Amino acid sequence: MRSFSNSQARYDGVSRFLHWLMAIGFGVMLVTILTRRFADETPLSDALWPWHRLIGFTLFLLWWIRVIWAWKMREESPAAISTFALWGHRVLYVFMLAVPCMALFRQYGSGRAFNYFGIPITQASEQKVEWMVALGNNWHGNLGIVLFIAIFAHIFLAYWHKRNPATDVMGRM
Ligand code: HEM
Ligand code: HEM
Repeated sequence: MRSFSNSQARYDGVSRFLHWLMAIGFGVMLVTILTRRFADETPLSDALWPWHRLIGFTLFLLWWIRVIWAWKMREESPAAISTFALWGHRVLYVFMLAVPCMALFRQYGSGRAFNYFGIPITQASEQKVEWMVALGNNWHGNLGIVLFIAIFAHIFLAYWHKRNPATDVMGRM
């Protein structure tokens, strides 16, 4: 039943698994970004930074599985507690896709090869596609930072709602 009055309703196991797996992934992404920003050209950053692309691409792949699953489960999943929460989650989904897409445009446009655990995603090429590089340069990092701010707001709100048993959604996820 899709109603918040049914507050015992939980997301199904697959949705919960994907939510927490991706949450860990975004946590690791944040670590790669922070070390690159604040400890660049240290052994730690050199070791972690290659994982930025690989985990970022994994999150991009998981996004599709998550969205297809969420669509399939749309009748069974508990309803958002407010229009704000509903749109907040939608915004998170949009940014979770847009951010890696901007990086992948740039990767393709730069003519540099990108291998995902041995699977070629973009091939080396002499030709650069300037608009794709510009799109990535302008938007990937900036939208990524906006995404992390939105994630922090999401986490804050999840804990904030815990104060009131009527809006405590933590157990659902
Ligand atoms: C959901 C996935 C991703 C998130 C949330 C994310 C987030 C970010 C953020 C916030 C920055 C800016 C760091 C700073 O300003 O210091 C950044 C930089 C970067 N990312 Fe990602 N990223 C993701 C996926 C990817 C993927 C898939 C690739 C490559 C295929 C990639 C390549 C890069 C590169 C090369 C930089 C450094 C240049 C720049 O700042 O734009 N990222 N990423
Ligand atoms: C400590 C970290 C996190 C906590 C405590 C948390 C908590 C929650 C809770 C309680 C819900 C259920 C909300 C409801 O039923 O209305 C939820 C849903 C959701 N969360 Fe998180 N979350 C965390 C991290 C993240 C991250 C990193 C993302 C990625 C952007 C994210 C994206 C979402 C989305 C899109 C939903 C909507 C349900 C879905 O389609 O999966 N969360 N979260």
